[in-house]
Amino acid sequence: MSEPTTHALWGGRFRQGPDPRFWALNASLAVDQRLGRYDARASRAWAQALGRAGVLTPSEVEALTQGLARIEAEFAQGTFPFAESDEDIHTAIERRLKELVGEPALKLHTGRSRNDQVVTAFRLWMREAIDVLAHDVRDLMQALLTRAEADQNVLVPGYTHLQQAQPILLAHLWMAHFWAFARDRERLADTRARVNVLPLGSGALAGTTLPIDRAALAHALGFAAPTPNSWDAVADRDFAAEFLFVAALIGVHLSRLAEQIILFNTREFGFITLDDRFSTGSSLMPQKKNPDGFELARGKAGTLIGLLTGLLATLKGLPSAYDKDLQEDKDAVFRAFDTLHRLLPVVADSLRTLHVHADRTAQALDPATLATDLADYLVERGVPFREAHRLVGQLVQRAEALGVGLHELPLHELQAVHPAFQADVYERALDPRAVLARRDVLGGTAPRRLREQLTQARLLLEEPGPFGPEPQPEP
Ligand code: ARG
Repeated sequence: MSEPTTHALWGGRFRQGPDPRFWALNASLAVDQRLGRYDARASRAWAQALGRAGVLTPSEVEALTQGLARIEAEFAQGTFPFAESDEDIHTAIERRLKELVGEPALKLHTGRSRNDQVVTAFRLWMREAIDVLAHDVRDLMQALLTRAEADQNVLVPGYTHLQQAQPILLAHLWMAHFWAFARDRERLADTRARVNVLPLGSGALAGTTLPIDRAALAHALGFAAPTPNSWDAVADRDFAAEFLFVAALIGVHLSRLAEQIILFNTREFGFITLDDRFSTGSSLMPQKKNPDGFELARGKAGTLIGLLTGLLATLKGLPSAYDKDLQEDKDAVFRAFDTLHRLLPVVADSLRTLHVHADRTAQALDPATLATDLADYLVERGVPFREAHRLVGQLVQRAEALGVGLHELPLHELQAVHPAFQADVYERALDPRAVLARRDVLGGTAPRRLREQLTQARLLLEEPGPFGPEPQPEP
């Protein structure tokens, strides 16, 4: 960007224009032009509020309203003409408005500061961005639910410490990830409520001298209420930090899911195969088929965490209301939004299209994962759990020494350890399907409980939440 010839917004007290290198540093248009539609919409509401306050005549309001509507259309069509001298999106719009409607454009900024203006446009943008992300997250939840419905009978080893622990249903594991994203969707709803307040009318920091009805202005722009303190209104970027936190946590959840898939997709596990459409090959090794999409999910989680900590670090030292440091907020938030809006649909469709190898997951199950159930068998027959635990530990050792699975130990071996073992032990405690069915507690992996969980999940997906009904065009 070259040195501007005029500084329409603030040049009056300056004898010299800015150094071009300083100008390039200071200008934010490259980032904040994305706020164009939102800034024009807020300006239209401001012009009307100035009219109601008696500051502008009806014909001035009319001219500004029409000019700003035209500018909004130019942003929507991508035809808005930017100029070299535009410092930021607010400057650009005011300059363009002057070209379109002349004199009244010079009155639009009455009683307003870019400090309350920028944060108003940013909040309008973010409200829509949250709706889009909520839709993306919902679609991923839907993909996990569909996956769970399809994999309801697939027996897999459940892991703790990445060591086989107890048998579970694969559907139960998909649903574990579903609930994490359900909480993220709630977090988006919570954040949306704190985003949805109006700063406009706060001026630079102290409020405006004009008789502006801020409640009416809030209503006109679809905000729930005006902010209660003008200083806080222009300084507050909690909503941006919150947005970045929710984005980072979604990233972390995607990363944990991705790591699970990457492991299951290895030859060593062999539990799943990714669809060709969501895998990549190697330039050197012809046989390779790599899970790059999930690796990117895992990698981008790191970037999202960085965006959050970056903004928090920017905010922590700011003493006064608006400082130019705050200009850093939009880049971080836009990048987080773009990252997730690209990632979530790919992860959802990668899940929808992957192939599960149910024979392989069942084979992989180590019979020793039935040890807890063997202990429970003794507990049901009056043996204290701690004692049962110790006795079954001996049986695990014995099976290892004999080179057989726990379920293959003959009854006399079991009875040598405790006489309470009877012939029914094999079907009650040493059959993976039977022990699954006995995890029949609310939230457990028993097929009956899983079906309850699926019903609960389907109902949740039907709730629209506070979000816009349709995903908006990409903000
Ligand atoms: N480009 C600025 C931003 O993004 C707009 C606000 C500038 N306000 C000011 N007083 N310099 O934060």
